[in-house]
Amino acid sequence: MAEQQLQNWVLMVTAQTPTNIAVIKYWGKRDEDLILAINDSISVTLDPAHLCTTTTVAVSPAFDQDRMWLNGKEISLSGGRYQNCLREIRARASDVEDENKGIKIAKKDWQNLHVHIASYNNFPTAAGLASSAAGFACLVFSLAKLMNVQEDNGKLSAIARQGSGSACRSLYGGFVKWIMGKEENGSDSIAVQLVDEKHWDELVIIIAVVSSRQKETSSTSGMRDTVETSALIKHRAKEVVPKRIIQMEEAIQNRDFPTFAQLTCADSNQFHAVCMDTSPPIFYMNDTSHRVIGCVEKWNRSEGTPQVAYTFDAGPNAVLIARNRKAATLMLQRLLFHFPPNSDTDLNSYVIGDKSILKDAG
Ligand code: ADP
Ligand code: DP6
Ligand code: CO
Repeated sequence: MAEQQLQNWVLMVTAQTPTNIAVIKYWGKRDEDLILAINDSISVTLDPAHLCTTTTVAVSPAFDQDRMWLNGKEISLSGGRYQNCLREIRARASDVEDENKGIKIAKKDWQNLHVHIASYNNFPTAAGLASSAAGFACLVFSLAKLMNVQEDNGKLSAIARQGSGSACRSLYGGFVKWIMGKEENGSDSIAVQLVDEKHWDELVIIIAVVSSRQKETSSTSGMRDTVETSALIKHRAKEVVPKRIIQMEEAIQNRDFPTFAQLTCADSNQFHAVCMDTSPPIFYMNDTSHRVIGCVEKWNRSEGTPQVAYTFDAGPNAVLIARNRKAATLMLQRLLFHFPPNSDTDLNSYVIGDKSILKDAG
C-alpha cells in the first residue's frame, strides 16, 4: 500500500441509474435518520436512456478528503444522508485488484482512502422529477462497484433509502413497491419489483417540463412540515393509501388502464391536497400544471375511457402516462395546441418509451 500511494494512481468507476416516478406517493417519514416511510408507495422506473443520473466515483491515495460535484458544482458531503451512504458502503468494501494498473487495495485500506464523486443528472435537479431518487441510487451503486461490495440489489436499495427514500425504488426496473415495514431498525422497509419493464410495455410516458427551476421547498422539508402540521396526512396514510396499494397492484398485474389511471390521478391530487393542508401551505404545482390536468381530464372524459394518467411529484412538472403510442401521440398534439412553442407557458415535452426525445415541443 505504501508503495502504491507514492504512485498516485486513480481507480474509477462510472454507473448510470434511471429515475422513478411514484403512482402511489411516499410523503412522510416515521424515522428521519433511517428514512422510514409512513405509508407504502408504488412507482414506475423510467427508461434510463432518457431521465437518468450518471455518476463517476474515483479513489486515489492522493485524495485527502471525500468530495462531490453535482452537475459540475462542488457540494458539501457533510449532510447525514451522504455520510450514511458512504459509511454503509465502506463497511462492506472488499479487496480490489486491478492487474493492468498494478493496483491492490485490501479491504482494510478502504477506511483510510478518500473518494471523489462527480454526478450529472440529464434532467432538471430538485424540480420534482425525482433527482434525489436517481442520484442516491446511482451514488450507492457506483460506490459499491468501486469498493467491490458483495451485496445484492436488495441491500444496496436499503442503503440508497438512507440517502433519499424514493431512491430505494430506482434499483429495480418496471413497477416497484416500497414496503414501509414495521421494524424500528428498518430491516423490513424494502423495495420489491412488482413486475418487470416488459410486463406493460404499451405504456408511453411523457414528461412535460413546466419549469426546470429548483423548487423552493425540498421534498425532505416539505414532508417534515406535513407530518408535523397536517391532519389530512394521517387519514391518507392510515385509511386511503393501504386500500389504494392493493387496488394499484391488481390494476398493474391485470394491465387495467382505467383503474390504473383513476388511482394514479387521484393519488397525485391527494398528495397535493395534503401539501396544501400543511402549515404553511406548500404549492408545488403552478397554473400551467393545473392547465395540464384540465387538458387531460377533459380529453379522458370526451373519450369515455381514460387515455392518459397524470401525476405530479413535489414540483410543477407533469408526468403523463399514456395507455399506448396512439394515445401518447394524440396527447402530444393536444399539448402542442394548448401550450404552443415560444408562448409564455414554455413547455418542453420529452417522450419516453419510443426512444425519441422531443425537446421544445411547445
Ligand atoms: P427531486 O424532486 O428532484 O427529487 P428533492 O428535493 O427530493 O428533489 O432532492 C433534491 C436533492 O437531491 C438535491 O438538492 C441533492 O441534494 C440531491 N441530489 C440530486 N441529484 C443528485 C445526484 N445526482 N447525486 C446525489 N444527490 C443528488
Ligand atoms: C413526491 O424521496 O425525495 O416524489 O426521502 O426526504 O429524500 P427524501 O424525499 P424524496 O421524496 C419523494 C416524494 C415524492 C413521492 C415519491 O417519490 O414517492
Ligand atoms: Co426527491
